[in-house]
Amino acid sequence: MIFARMNRPIRVLLITSASAVIAALASACGTEKITVAKSDATYGGAVLFSQRCSGCHTLSFAATRGSATNERTAEPNNGPNFDVRCERPVARVLYAIENGGFSGLIMPQNVVVGKDAVAVAEFVAKYAGRRTPPVVGQAPCDSKPIGSIPAMATTTTTTTSSTGTLAKAPPGRPAKAKATRPPRRR
Ligand code: HEC
Repeated sequence: MIFARMNRPIRVLLITSASAVIAALASACGTEKITVAKSDATYGGAVLFSQRCSGCHTLSFAATRGSATNERTAEPNNGPNFDVRCERPVARVLYAIENGGFSGLIMPQNVVVGKDAVAVAEFVAKYAGRRTPPVVGQAPCDSKPIGSIPAMATTTTTTTSSTGTLAKAPPGRPAKAKATRPPRRR
């Protein structure tokens, strides 16, 4: 074997230079930086997104590349690409975070919670969909309202209906609708 015949200093030199090349290649990945300005109110959300959502979603403003780049090699847990997918209004994003996407089957729920979840949702709603190719007859993401998150939605305990009770019908019989009179005509 050629390796065995080399003297030790050369072998060490080869191995160390090879590992230096590997290290250089490895560190070349991940040099992309968050491009949201630090003064932007959603900067904190971008940082959280890059920490928690990067494995599965692409959003270049947070320097993440988690979505599939090739549909033939895509895995089920590759999430939507937010460079091209519009995610407005913000309440929709918060819903997805709390419920694990819209199907609740693949994405884990509550990767971020409370204030963090709101911060991430606000960042995603603001920056997603900026690279959507224009589609005739479809309003660009920028022109869609971001909306806001109702104060109640930020706590995790308010999952029951606002009245607290549901009208129950006896089995087999439909709940009686309250008699509603048609509006009076004058
Ligand atoms: C393990 C991978 C994974 C992680 C981590 C993850 N997601 Fe997802 N996400 C997905 C997948 C897969 C879907 C599509 C789910 C579906 O259709 O059931 C999705 C869907 C979504 C959607 C709905 C998109 C749409 O329009 O259908 C939003 C919004 C979202 N994710 C935001 C986030 C945010 C924010 C984070 C970080 C807090 C995050 N995701 C972390 C995999 C992930």
